[in-house]
Amino acid sequence: MRFATKALRVGQELDPKYRAVIQPLYQSATFGWEDLDHIPDIDYTRCQNPNRKTLEEVIAALENGKHAVLFASGMAAIVGAFSLLKHGDHLLMATDIYGGTFRVGEKLLPRQGISVSEFCAHNPLSINDAVQPNTKLLIFETPTNPNLRVSDIEAVVKIAKSHGLIVVFDNTFASPALQNPLDLGVDIVVHSTTKYISGHSDVIGGAAVTNNPEYYTAIYEWNKAVGAVPSPFDCWLSLRGVKTLAVRMAQHCKNAQAIAEYLSDHPKVSKVHYPGLPSHPDHAVAKKQMKGFGGMLAFEVNGGTEAARKLAESTEVFLLAESLGGVESLIGYPPLMSHATMTEEQRVSKGIPGSLLRVSVGIEDVQDLIDDLDQALAKI
Ligand SMILES: Cc1ncc(COP(=O)(O)O)c(C=O)c1O
Repeated sequence: MRFATKALRVGQELDPKYRAVIQPLYQSATFGWEDLDHIPDIDYTRCQNPNRKTLEEVIAALENGKHAVLFASGMAAIVGAFSLLKHGDHLLMATDIYGGTFRVGEKLLPRQGISVSEFCAHNPLSINDAVQPNTKLLIFETPTNPNLRVSDIEAVVKIAKSHGLIVVFDNTFASPALQNPLDLGVDIVVHSTTKYISGHSDVIGGAAVTNNPEYYTAIYEWNKAVGAVPSPFDCWLSLRGVKTLAVRMAQHCKNAQAIAEYLSDHPKVSKVHYPGLPSHPDHAVAKKQMKGFGGMLAFEVNGGTEAARKLAESTEVFLLAESLGGVESLIGYPPLMSHATMTEEQRVSKGIPGSLLRVSVGIEDVQDLIDDLDQALAKI
């Protein structure tokens, strides 16, 4: 089966009792045992649930992975992957990373005796200098949040593997529709399924996908033990959402490209960060690595912080809100939203100035989106 078909059919047989085409919602905390000699496959929803199991099978198939573990959020999935670390280990984290991941590295892991330092994923050789004798795991993402830089996944994996590291990759921004990092040698792919996989801004969820049975068992056991699991209804909604991932993503990419081109020509816009633009510093690697350039873009406006804030508050079709990957377009201001956890100094060092805005381009009529940005830009 190919990608779009897998999203609709993997694990989704007709319901055995009524031949329902859509899997029923198993909103049950517990499942009956026939007798004490036979432990049921699914007996308690913290450990597993039919809706979750089906979604796990679909997400694993879409990432070309053997196993998926689902979580209550993307952050829980990332921390689930970090559960492979123990006291005394060292973690290498890419400099350009989602603010929530940065927060875990800066504030939580050191409390558990796990040290963290950064490396530059755009310069994979930097791993050679950053690695320490106790480095066990490396995490990175591309395209990055919020600057949409694209690093070469295979090149990072090659150097990380030469040091025996477990490689974790956050594929939230691209989604499995645009790239499959396990095929490029990554050990564990994590997702905020809140975003493109669910696609409708009505669920918080996460996933970790791997081909490695040892990592799978350890992450599953951690999830079961702490109970960071999604509800059956959230899985049911995500399963409905993921069925249209291929068509949604095609439209996200098309709309984002048109908006990036429009913004590039606008006199009040000083910089557009979109890997689909030939002028983007990582256009060539994005072209090689991705099936499309994605629905996320960022841009900087003339007039600094004040102008950016005014623009964010002036759009009407683009909603001013956190998050991304839903069918509706959102505009975000990273210093107060996705990267609010960082100090201004940290943000500036990571190339996140006050003049930067991030948009998640939805699937509306693109002309309405361009008209909206046009009227908002006229106000700054
Ligand atoms: C790239 C990336 N990874 C992980 C997360 C965390 O996901 P969640 O909010 O589902 O915990 C986010 C959230 O914005 C994100 O953008």
